[in-house]
Amino acid sequence: MTGRSIYDETYRRSFQAPEEFWAAAAEDIVWDRRWDRVLDDARPPFYRWFVGGMLNTCYNAVDVHVDRGRGRQTALVYDSPVTKTVKTYSYAELRDEVARFAGALTRLGIGKGDRVILYMPMVPEAVIAMLGCARIGAIHSVVFGGFAPKELATRIDDAKPKLILCASCGIEVNRVIPYKPLLDQAIELARHTVERCLVLQRPQERATMVKGRDLDWQETVAGAAPVDCVSGAATDALYILYTSGTTGIPKGVVRDNGGHAVALKWSMQNVYGMGSGEVYWAASDIGWVVGHSYIVYAPLLKGCTTILYEGKPVGTPDPGAFWRVCSQHGVNALFTAPTAFRAIKKEDPQGSFMKTYDLSRFRTLFLAGERCDPDTLVWARERLGVPVIDHWWQTETGWAIGANCVGLGMLPVKPGSPTKAVPGYDVQVLGEDGRQMPAGEIGAIVVKLPMPPGCLPTLWNNDEGYEKSYLARYPGYYLTADAGYKDEDGYLFIMSRIDDIINVAGHRLSTGAMEEVLSAHPDVAECAVVGVADEIKGEIPVGFVVTKAGVTRSEAEIVRELVERVREQIGPVAAFKAATVVKRLPKTRSGKILRGTMKRIAEGTPYTTPATIDDPVILDEIGESLRGLGYPKKGT
Ligand code: COA
Ligand code: AMP
Repeated sequence: MTGRSIYDETYRRSFQAPEEFWAAAAEDIVWDRRWDRVLDDARPPFYRWFVGGMLNTCYNAVDVHVDRGRGRQTALVYDSPVTKTVKTYSYAELRDEVARFAGALTRLGIGKGDRVILYMPMVPEAVIAMLGCARIGAIHSVVFGGFAPKELATRIDDAKPKLILCASCGIEVNRVIPYKPLLDQAIELARHTVERCLVLQRPQERATMVKGRDLDWQETVAGAAPVDCVSGAATDALYILYTSGTTGIPKGVVRDNGGHAVALKWSMQNVYGMGSGEVYWAASDIGWVVGHSYIVYAPLLKGCTTILYEGKPVGTPDPGAFWRVCSQHGVNALFTAPTAFRAIKKEDPQGSFMKTYDLSRFRTLFLAGERCDPDTLVWARERLGVPVIDHWWQTETGWAIGANCVGLGMLPVKPGSPTKAVPGYDVQVLGEDGRQMPAGEIGAIVVKLPMPPGCLPTLWNNDEGYEKSYLARYPGYYLTADAGYKDEDGYLFIMSRIDDIINVAGHRLSTGAMEEVLSAHPDVAECAVVGVADEIKGEIPVGFVVTKAGVTRSEAEIVRELVERVREQIGPVAAFKAATVVKRLPKTRSGKILRGTMKRIAEGTPYTTPATIDDPVILDEIGESLRGLGYPKKGT
């Protein structure tokens, strides 16, 4: 069978008999009790996989490999150029650490179904803690360190954790960022009372402890006895991961245990072409879904060695950082965001750094998290001499919706396309009226229900929000909120979002949330934030504000405060640094702000003046304000 026909045949089988297909994949997982039904479709639009099945995800990711004689194989490599540390854990060592940490959790009264929030940098203790929660059935919720206290507080109020895990600091290239004061502020802002915090003191910064609430990580864990894995239902939640929605309120994406383990293990072989014992590196952060799925769970489920990298693609110390890690640890496949490559390309346009390292074991580069511009893909492919695979997915799905499935035989690459729908995903492109769009024509990209195992069953405590956000627009389909098209060969092209989400350096952010911050400023009458193309970060937010009548303070002063407010209330990760005061915002006669037109003006791309605009002169005023900010920029 040729590579092509393996993909086609597998895709077809995944729909011809989905229950058989996923039951076969589930044989690769150790179950404490077999499922009663592979797919429970009795309550559409809610679907559950492997109902009646019992398992433990931590057992499948860690203990099983020790039990099967691979205890000495390296499970985790912690590579931290910012602290000049490399530390490895074998599967046996990882199991012991996780079992002891789970023991500490148990002693603190944490058990099945309790929520534990992690606000931590990329240190091995964070991975151990995630697995420790999974071991006893506690539900972890990791909050990315670049989010501000207010964002953390919102997540605390929604998840209502019994315990928060934190480190004294993160390290951003050469800056120490104290995390503990941010946590203290978040706890103060939150309505939910947090009873306990476990604080990892890093040598770079000592956190001040709150008496009666905060416990020292090392001391607490040192005194704990290891505990065994606790069996749980396949449909129990493994974790909650908050992601930006269309408002300032983030959505708590729920991941179950059974479907997740089955899908992720299947993906390692079939999507990424990885075998047990091989080395897989996802250069992301545990605060994002890529980190959950492909730093922690999938590589360990597959019995690979996974790399936890506390550094950046450039500056730690140079644009050869990724190639140093790949050669030092014998990486077979690397997964990162295109933005990382744009950053490398800018500092090392010839790719000279990679030539100085032995990359003989490196065979595939995977990119995702944002649209991959063909220039970046081709640059990486030519310099590295290996296939570069763009693939498309989102926090909600937890694994790839569209990909060139390497393990099923690679299809020809079309730069700009993540290739085709992955088996299990019936991806369609629909028009406003719900009809399928012809090949080549843009529409809303949807997945016909049920989605395959591993995708979100619902939002945390919010079935209604799940239905409203994803299922209401096209009954029977999951709305990805991405717009794009399929070409005549069935290749997908993901072009833009249909909501207010923008993608800044591979990070998903809501412009609506930023607008909420700007409008709360006492001098601001109204505002708009749009994502403008950026050479390195893909997109960058730019704010437009109209001040209230009678405001006489300088524009520079107001803008400085706005930038500061977004940083304080959303976090540095928003990268909100550019804003301008305008006389008026362009609107349609019905009052809709013309954000798309403003984006085009900022990017210097042609636009047609909308017929419904109330006053076209405003567009010239917007253009002038943008020129003051240096837009349009060259080369975007
Ligand atoms: N804790 C605290 N602050 C953080 C942080 C963290 N974990 N991660 C980022 N920040 C801060 C940064 O220090 C920066 O702050 P600054 O405005 O004071 O400089 C801000 O948030 C923006 O960070 P970042 O988006 O990382 O931009 P950068 O300019 O520092 O680096 C890249 C640019 C391209 C090198 C970087 O974005 C990168 O490596 N991206 C890889 C993409 C990725 O991991 N995507 C995840 C999905 S696959
Ligand atoms: P997140 O939930 O943070 O992973 O962000 C998901 C969103 O990022 C998707 O809905 C897309 O808008 C975008 N995205 C992710 N991967 C790709 C890709 N390969 N091509 C285009 N857009 C992508």
